[in-house]
Amino acid sequence: MAVQLDYLAPPNWQPEDPDENYVLAQYKLELADGIDKSMFVQAAASIAAESSTGTWTKVDAGPDSGIKVAEGYKAVVYDLDETNRLFKVAYKKDLFEKDNLSGLLAGPAGNIAGMKMVKALRLFDIRFPKAMVEAFPGPRYGISGVRDLLSQTDKQRRMPILGTVAKPKVGRTAGEQAILAKRLWTAGDGTYDFIKDDENLTSLPFNKFEDRVRLVHQVQKELEEKGSPKKLYLCNITHSNLDVMLKRANLIKENGGRCLMIDVVVTGFSALHTVRLKTPQLLIHAHRAMHGFLTRESGKDFMASGTLQGFSISMILLAKIYRLLGVDSLHSGSPKAKMEDYGESGEIMRLLTTEITQPNPHYHSLGQNWFGKKKVWPVASGGLHPGVMDKVIEAFGKDCYIQLGGGVLGHPQGIERGVEAAIEARKAVTEGMTIKDYVQKYPESALSSAVKLWGTEPKIVY
Ligand code: 3PG
Ligand code: MG
Repeated sequence: MAVQLDYLAPPNWQPEDPDENYVLAQYKLELADGIDKSMFVQAAASIAAESSTGTWTKVDAGPDSGIKVAEGYKAVVYDLDETNRLFKVAYKKDLFEKDNLSGLLAGPAGNIAGMKMVKALRLFDIRFPKAMVEAFPGPRYGISGVRDLLSQTDKQRRMPILGTVAKPKVGRTAGEQAILAKRLWTAGDGTYDFIKDDENLTSLPFNKFEDRVRLVHQVQKELEEKGSPKKLYLCNITHSNLDVMLKRANLIKENGGRCLMIDVVVTGFSALHTVRLKTPQLLIHAHRAMHGFLTRESGKDFMASGTLQGFSISMILLAKIYRLLGVDSLHSGSPKAKMEDYGESGEIMRLLTTEITQPNPHYHSLGQNWFGKKKVWPVASGGLHPGVMDKVIEAFGKDCYIQLGGGVLGHPQGIERGVEAAIEARKAVTEGMTIKDYVQKYPESALSSAVKLWGTEPKIVY
């Protein structure tokens, strides 16, 4: 038992110059039933041990055992808060290969979740040191690069980017998807920005990837040749075979596309890292299906003194990882909308869009110096409609993608009116009006009909 206590830092210890020297992690734990609460410190130390150099017992320390080097790499627990079961662990940065995210996570997010003395554990955050931040590619384009790629005017640069995911999730043929793209891109004043595949749409018997990528980009090309503003098709390459994903990314490029979409949780960190390094000059749009299986925690008030119910990693940490690995846009939840997010969406937005993200004790986030890594677009999506545009822009700012699936395709007067409503809402808000003001002023508008149906609050799926 005393073995793991070697992994405790002296009282009041703080890591010296952490951005140069350490990987820091923030955890909260609950002890298993029957384990006395006095064991909290021991459990935290065991976590530091198992995730760095230790195991459950003393091992051979003779010559050739590596024990001397291991001594120098022991992680240490500090900032223990016994009341709320919170603690931090500092790992010397050379304990990990600096450009190997999977190798790193195998420690601080690894075996420790299987420890018997713990019945619940949440990894709230990891702060990465400079050498690691610099070793990962980061976004190729980032916020301003995307605006440049779309040749946006100064006015457009002060607005969010708007688009729609095809609904039903699957059902349209490739040809029908191209028709939808045309309807979205030509409705209203023609400034609607993107169409996105839904996550379930890969390459299906009635909608083959090869056909879809060709037909939708054909529409894009035709419209742009006629002078339409540049468009984005967020085309889903997600596959469990990395070679297939890379082939699909090349096909997007060959067809004149600008953007690939990849579901970054289900495909994994190595897949994203490789796609970022190997794909041609394409934007990477990240969808995050399955994140809830990793990030969701049911304990009431678990961010404060409440009790954790299970094992999880925060979306805040995942968002950080995706910025390091190089996505240009990332689904970040939407304020009060259909998916549970503990109010983290605003914090995720800050992580993606600041040069130096300050720690936020409310979310137990450790902050991050991004050392010049480009900024990522937060994507507000899920249960949104034009009636909530003011709330979304208030929460995420102008540099965000706003994705409205049902909120455009479900407009009571049809798809074109849905697009018009979204464009009206964007224009109103960026000119300083609230949605309610606009609807009062223009009662016959498409936005007014949308608000009659959906109101001015996001939709929650129960
Ligand atoms: C997405 O993939 O972003 C969601 O399917 C959003 O759909 P919704 O806008 O209809 O909620
Ligand atoms: Mg979806």
